[in-house]
Amino acid sequence: MEFITAHLPPPPARVLDAGCGGGELADRLRDAGYEVTAIDIDPEHASPTVRVADICSYDDERFDAIIFSLSLHHMCELDKAIDRASALLAPGGRLIVDEFAHERADAAIADRFYDEPESLERWREHHHELHTGAAMIDAIVRRFAVLSLARVPYLHRYLEDDSLRDVESVLGIQLTAEPRHAGQINRCP
Ligand SMILES: C[S@@+](CC[C@H](N)C(=O)[O-])C[C@H]1O[C@@H](n2cnc3c(N)ncnc32)[C@H](O)[C@@H]1O
Repeated sequence: MEFITAHLPPPPARVLDAGCGGGELADRLRDAGYEVTAIDIDPEHASPTVRVADICSYDDERFDAIIFSLSLHHMCELDKAIDRASALLAPGGRLIVDEFAHERADAAIADRFYDEPESLERWREHHHELHTGAAMIDAIVRRFAVLSLARVPYLHRYLEDDSLRDVESVLGIQLTAEPRHAGQINRCP
């Protein structure tokens, strides 16, 4: 939440939370004064504040910011999702991506995750259908000018165990970007 609010324009900006799950982040942003549209492809998440929609075919008025919070690595059509985000952003709008690079896990991280030795192969099998961090960054860099890119701890958040914050610092990706202007060269930080 801190990363996202730090990079959003001030409220009341129009924000799209793409792949919002149950919509908890969207609710918190609404409480902070943002005008949030929250969409998720899974009908199980439908609610008065969550619309069932696929970002890959979603259309709406332009947004000042689009958030992918742990959703992009699940999207079956990565390029289409990023293309739609690019089309849905207003000029000067922000793409805010808070993600997970599963390919960067090593044996120690896998063993800790499953609480079992020799778990790296199991980790790889479990995650192989998800987009890698490298693939997500590549898809974004091809369409956006990247403003910031940080590698941050992730597991402590997933496992809700703050003691893991210092164990692993490579799986999380926090990225911000803006639509690229014609002729602009991308200097990925
Ligand atoms: C791991 S959950 C993340 C939920 C929430 N954003 C969070 O930070 O906790 C990933 C979500 O992305 C949604 N999703 C996957 N593909 C999608 C798509 N093409 N369009 C919209 N939502 C999608 C899934 O249904 C799921 O709810």
